[in-house]
Parts: sequence; C-alpha cells; structure tokens
Amino acid sequence: KQLVGLVGWRGMVGSVLMDRMQAEGDFALIEPVFFSTSNAGGKAPAMATVHTQLKDANDIAELSKCDIIITCQGGDYTKEVFPQIRAAGWNGHWIDAASSLRMEDNAVIVLDPVNDDLIKSKLAAGGKNWIGGNCTNSILLMGLGGLFKAGLVEWVSSMTYQAASGGGANHMRELLKGMGVVHAAVADELATPASAILDIDRKVAATIREDVPTEFFGAPLAGGLIPWIDAQLPNGQSKEEWKGQAEVNKILGTDATIPVDGLCVRIGAMRCHSLALTLKLKKDLPLEEIEALIKAGNPWVKFVANERALTVKELTPAATTGGLEVAVGRVRKLNMGPEYLSAFVIGDQLLWGAAEPLRRMLRILLA
Ligand code: HSE
Repeated sequence: KQLVGLVGWRGMVGSVLMDRMQAEGDFALIEPVFFSTSNAGGKAPAMATVHTQLKDANDIAELSKCDIIITCQGGDYTKEVFPQIRAAGWNGHWIDAASSLRMEDNAVIVLDPVNDDLIKSKLAAGGKNWIGGNCTNSILLMGLGGLFKAGLVEWVSSMTYQAASGGGANHMRELLKGMGVVHAAVADELATPASAILDIDRKVAATIREDVPTEFFGAPLAGGLIPWIDAQLPNGQSKEEWKGQAEVNKILGTDATIPVDGLCVRIGAMRCHSLALTLKLKKDLPLEEIEALIKAGNPWVKFVANERALTVKELTPAATTGGLEVAVGRVRKLNMGPEYLSAFVIGDQLLWGAAEPLRRMLRILLA
C-alpha cells in the first residue's frame, strides 16, 4: 500500500475530507500517516494502523517517506514546506487544497469530472502537483462543464453569492453570532404581533451597524452582504474575481482564453456558494439541446427546470448543503438575444468546492 501523508486533517476542509474518505472506503486502500503542526507524538486517528503516532508536519525527512501527501493545512504551510521538500529531492505526489501553487506551470488544478483528460495527460507526462481549485470556480464548472466541454461558451459573466464557510470556521461562527445578536435586539418586539415593523427595523439597523461582530469578515454579514472577497488588485478586481478567468481556463486547458468576469459577493449562507451567470454562447441552440448538454456534464448535475415552485424548493442552500449534487437552474434565453443564456448554479462549498476533488485525485493516483 502507498504511504499517504495527511496534513491539516483536523481543520474544516480536512475534516470534510476525512469524512468523505471514510465514506468511500479510501483508507482501506492506503497506509495513512497523520501529521500535525502542534501535536507530534500524539495519537493518530484510528484509521492509522501502522503509524499510530502523529508525526511533525514540518519534519521534511518524515514527510519525504510518503508516496503521496495531501494537505488542507493552508497556504502558509504550503509556501513554507513545499519548496523545502522538493529541494530535498522528494518526488512524490503533492495534493493540496490551498491556492498557493495553483497557477504554477507544473501544477494541475484538479476537477476530474471536468478535466479528467488533462489530469491523465499531465500524469503520463510526469506531473506531481495536484491542486484543488477555488470553490466558486469548481462549482461553476461542475454545474456547467457540459457547455464548456462542448466548446459553446464565448464568455461568462459570473455574479457570485458566496457562503461564510469560504472564509473558514471562524467566519461561520461569526455569521451565526451576528444572527443571534440581531434577533436578540428585537426578540421582545417580535414576540408582540402588534409592535410596529418600522420600529423593529430601526433597532435592527442600529444593531447591525454597531453590535454585529465583524472581527473575521471585517464588516457585518448577518442581515446584510459584503460585495468584496479577498485582496484588492490594481485593476479594480478582487482577487476572488481574478481567479474566475485564470482558473476556469487553466482547469479546462483552453487554447484561447474564455473571458470570465463578474462580481463576487459574500452573503449569509453557511456553506453553499451560488452563482448567477450570464453566458454568451457561440451559437443559437434550442433550449432543449442546451439543457441536455448541461445534464450530460457529469453525474452530479441536478438540473432544476425553470419553474417557480421547483426552483424555490430545489435551487437553494437548504436543499443543497451537505450533498454532492450541484444544482443548475434558471436556465433561459435572455432578452439580449438568442445566444444569451442565464443560469443559476449552487453547490456545497466544502465538498466539490474543496475536499472532493482532492479525494478523487488520490483515487486517480491509486488506480
Ligand atoms: N475564496 C473562497 C471564499 C473560498 O472566500 O469563498 C476558497 O476557495
């Protein structure tokens, strides 16, 4: 069995990865070695039958014994350890959730239901660095990969509604605390049907401005939204917005760049990222053909017919959270012309958006 080092398995993405690996029986196929940045020598999880003690995640010699390393430890760890382990001559496979290496020439952004061909050809050519994509882009391509693969997409305007989980565990907690603070401010009035809604609203507005916690998001999210995610770039894009075109084209391995751009917005959902999309198609196809291509994209596409009752039931975070299906709906032709298509895509940020592509890359390497 191959020795597979796991780093950052206790964090949020790492925990989702562990759950999925257990659910799919992956541990039976590998010899896991659990690494820790803080608790080396401690007891490893029960899945480790040989290496039952945690090893030091900064010990290059120990890491170098692994055939494969999977890390969800984050970008700082990658920047610190990856150059050292390669400089030490380690030639194993590095699977990483962090963005640090994504755009490197010798790295592939892995999303095998969409770019299996690219992964296989890079593997055959000796590729060793397999990096998970940005959550929003992975979800976009899981939803609409069928249209991209058919070569139909001329450009995409992508307006996102991104969940708290994209920021991390602390951000999810901050959203929930904020919700509680807002509710508590008007709980008495809410319990009294006769209370005036504009009085309630005034109190809520003051609470959002003054009392909702902002430590992690930098602005109140509960009861609101934040139309900026990640760093500011000189051209006016946010880094999250920049990633759209850069990563989508890298994942697809396009020769001619497909323009992808739009605004990325943080909303008060827990762990489902959504995208409202405008696509310019290269030709005017009947809607039925477009729908068929989307449905055939991969087995995880859940196509939701563009009907009100179905949409409000199926195309929501409540219906999507915690599952592997990526829902696609609101597909219709826009007034701008017959090549202009709308779509709404929603997926679980921690599954296809983070952990699942890494897990599947491991299975590709083990096959
Ligand atoms: N940058 C994303 C977000 C998550 O903040 O939602 C990481 O892919």
